[in-house]
Amino acid sequence: MKSQYPTNLGRIYALSIIFLLVCCTFLASLASAELHVREFVIEAKPVKRLCRTHQTITVNGQFPGPTLEVRNGDSLAITVINKARYNISLHWHGLRQLRNPWADGPEYITQCPIQPGQSYTYRIKIEDQEGTLWWHAHSHWLRATVYGALIIYPRLGSPYPFSMPKRDIPIILGEWWDRNPMDVLRLAQFTGAAPNVSDAYTINGQPGDLYRCSKPETLRFPIVPGETVQLRLINAALNQELFFTVANHPLTVVEVDSAYTKPFTTNVVMLGPGQTTNVLITANQRPGRYYIAARAYNSANAAFDNTTTTAIIEYVNAPSGQGQITPVFPVLPGFNDTATATAFVNRLRYWTRAPVPLEIDENLFFAVGLGLINCANPNSPRCQGPNGTRFAASMNNVSFVLPRTNSVMQAYYQGIPGIITSDFPPVPPVQFDYTGNVSRGLWQPVKATKAYKLKYKANVQIVLQDTSIVTPENHPMHLHGYQFYVVGSGFGNFDPKRDPASFNLFDPPERNTIGTPPGGWVAIRFVADNPGAWFMHCHIDSHLGWGLAMVFLVENGIGQLQSVQPPPLDLPRC
Ligand code: C2O
Repeated sequence: MKSQYPTNLGRIYALSIIFLLVCCTFLASLASAELHVREFVIEAKPVKRLCRTHQTITVNGQFPGPTLEVRNGDSLAITVINKARYNISLHWHGLRQLRNPWADGPEYITQCPIQPGQSYTYRIKIEDQEGTLWWHAHSHWLRATVYGALIIYPRLGSPYPFSMPKRDIPIILGEWWDRNPMDVLRLAQFTGAAPNVSDAYTINGQPGDLYRCSKPETLRFPIVPGETVQLRLINAALNQELFFTVANHPLTVVEVDSAYTKPFTTNVVMLGPGQTTNVLITANQRPGRYYIAARAYNSANAAFDNTTTTAIIEYVNAPSGQGQITPVFPVLPGFNDTATATAFVNRLRYWTRAPVPLEIDENLFFAVGLGLINCANPNSPRCQGPNGTRFAASMNNVSFVLPRTNSVMQAYYQGIPGIITSDFPPVPPVQFDYTGNVSRGLWQPVKATKAYKLKYKANVQIVLQDTSIVTPENHPMHLHGYQFYVVGSGFGNFDPKRDPASFNLFDPPERNTIGTPPGGWVAIRFVADNPGAWFMHCHIDSHLGWGLAMVFLVENGIGQLQSVQPPPLDLPRC
């Protein structure tokens, strides 16, 4: 038999078979895209932690809330039914929501909150994203208990850039108050002082062995000797950067914020609130029990929760009676170990060559940090902050105030004036030695609701410069609607002449949340290809409440596929 087609007819025949095969694969991949229809009922349920039961705001009675598992290309329709006594909205942290800010969720930014007794359906399309993300309430402090994992697997048949273990464990780090978190917030809003720190950290909702009344419920993860598992770490804590480690087991980092990285091995991971990190661990130690643990990385000169949350990894072949054996405890970095935190973050690299924008259209410089508002009656009940002031925070001296009567996105879309102005300054109104000894005259920001306009497809660079006002601090800055590249960072003041020379424009990590080094700066780049109103803010909720936020208004492009979709009919009313 001949192995080649001798005639033209044969060639056409072969080509049509190939064509059919290509069509079939394409159709199959379309057919495999799924629509996930879910109901999220927001309701108070009794939850017992640290010996006490609280009426806790949950989703479907679960704490943490349900894990969403989807594939790249899938769609979600999640109907949120609010049976709680608070207004609420949900945010799908890290999802791009292309041309669809209506499903993004931050209250008064892209929608008005869902009032008690009301409902709203978030219609979401996953486009070109895979990895670990999460969802959380975006209304006051409700995300203290209203959060869950959002896992996006690749399209069927599409590979991982590393060898993916069979087993995959979400590890959601949280923060627990032995009070109603909404009351903790309310008190702080009244006094102007810093809110009470949490009473525990949690792993998948459980504090672990080192807290009162918690030991029987400490989470245990069985592991088979020799196997490798992937841990999907999510920092859902309200107000605290965390160090994470596993006793005797090195961690291989493969992904951050739903973007793959060049794999590297480390003993400790640092995650700011909002960030996710996937790590692989291999069960190659002596059969036994090992703690996984997380505790604070505290870069600020401020009070913090210094407790440690734990769970246990148990080898399934460990000697019998192992339940009695105390697990091996890991070494954790010191609370203020900025060197370890920085060394970890600086090792992150995008998995392949990254399409970083090279020509910059918008060169922005944002000074971010805390501030203090002076009071007419210092030390009065409403002025219990440092020296009788009230705490504040700002970006370029603007302390962001949420609108109350409409959302920014609705006002922008319908051209309603008086909700937001688009004069957010591209550079600080006054230049000063940001990380030096800042004179008191520069400590008080101005309260306002300001946005910065971006042209469709503009190439944007933002240098986020921490200030030493009140205290230098790592601020985990999160941008909605986008993934950005982290092209450079350093300590002290950014030097526009010298520092850009050291930018990594080849394989910088891609993220949705990046911490400013305490008393330092970080530079990010992205293409403004997603029209709409997109919130940028510190993911420490106490700082967000004090005003560490701003909004980007990204204009439409020309075509329909470059413009914001019309709002859904059930968008909540204010
Ligand atoms: Cu994860 Cu605006 O938040």
